[in-house]
Amino acid sequence: MKVFKIVLSAKKYFLESYSCYLNSRARRTLQKNYSLWRMLDDYLTRSTSSGCAYSDYLVLYNHIRRTKPLEVLECGTGVSTIIMAYALMENEREGNPRGRIISMEESEKWHRLARELLPEELKPYVEIILSPPEEDYYAFFRGVRYARIPDRQYEFVFVDGPYSRSPKDGAPIFDFDFIRVVERSKGSVCGIVDMRHSTCYVLQEVFGPQKFKYDYARNLGFIGPVRKEDMRDTGAIASSFVARPFRTYRFLKQELKNFLGS
Ligand SMILES: C[S@@+](CC[C@H](N)C(=O)[O-])C[C@H]1O[C@@H](n2cnc3c(N)ncnc32)[C@H](O)[C@@H]1O
Repeated sequence: MKVFKIVLSAKKYFLESYSCYLNSRARRTLQKNYSLWRMLDDYLTRSTSSGCAYSDYLVLYNHIRRTKPLEVLECGTGVSTIIMAYALMENEREGNPRGRIISMEESEKWHRLARELLPEELKPYVEIILSPPEEDYYAFFRGVRYARIPDRQYEFVFVDGPYSRSPKDGAPIFDFDFIRVVERSKGSVCGIVDMRHSTCYVLQEVFGPQKFKYDYARNLGFIGPVRKEDMRDTGAIASSFVARPFRTYRFLKQELKNFLGS
């Protein structure tokens, strides 16, 4: 038992140290992009945005630069909006078609602030939309999504909102928007989930473990590319259930006793 505890704490220590290392390395990498860093610095000093880690921002920046999506959905506005919009601007400057972000925000206060702080040169790439959250259901899972997401063929979704509690009774639920986007999509969709474990759990159940991976050092879930056809229905999710086996020996002994007794 003691050895087990030591191994667990060593694992935790290693993961935490590795996360710190990744974060400071990402910060240094982002700093090398002077104009992006100036914008970020300015935004951070004026917004006090809670946001994610620099390692998350670098993952988002690299994803947009590498895959060059045209339609991006962001659930939860903040520093990540600046990072992704900047990457879209660089894509366009290199001669690629202009991509755009729909950034959803549920709080009036943060919506107003985010619009005020959005740098002028990034405005052509971002639309920040205020929307209340509402409940939705898939299979036997209960989730929350933004009520007013524009109907577009999104290729990439960053899930960092809405607040994953039921607007009706406050129960902890999952962020539904990725499922909704895939249901409406004619093509394939990729997504990154910031830390939200309930959302990661449901997405892994719905799309299967092959389509969903979790990075423990960055605390990010990666999903896709997935299509509507990849979504498992209630029956498929339930039949993928794997339980720990019953205590076979005791069970058989009891069954035998019952059999002999009858
Ligand atoms: C985790 S934040 C989203 C941040 C954004 N995606 C990012 O990574 O920069 C989720 C929500 O918290 C709210 N929020 C933003 N900045 C905040 C702050 N400084 N303090 C408290 N809540 C904040 C907003 O409603 C936002 O949608």
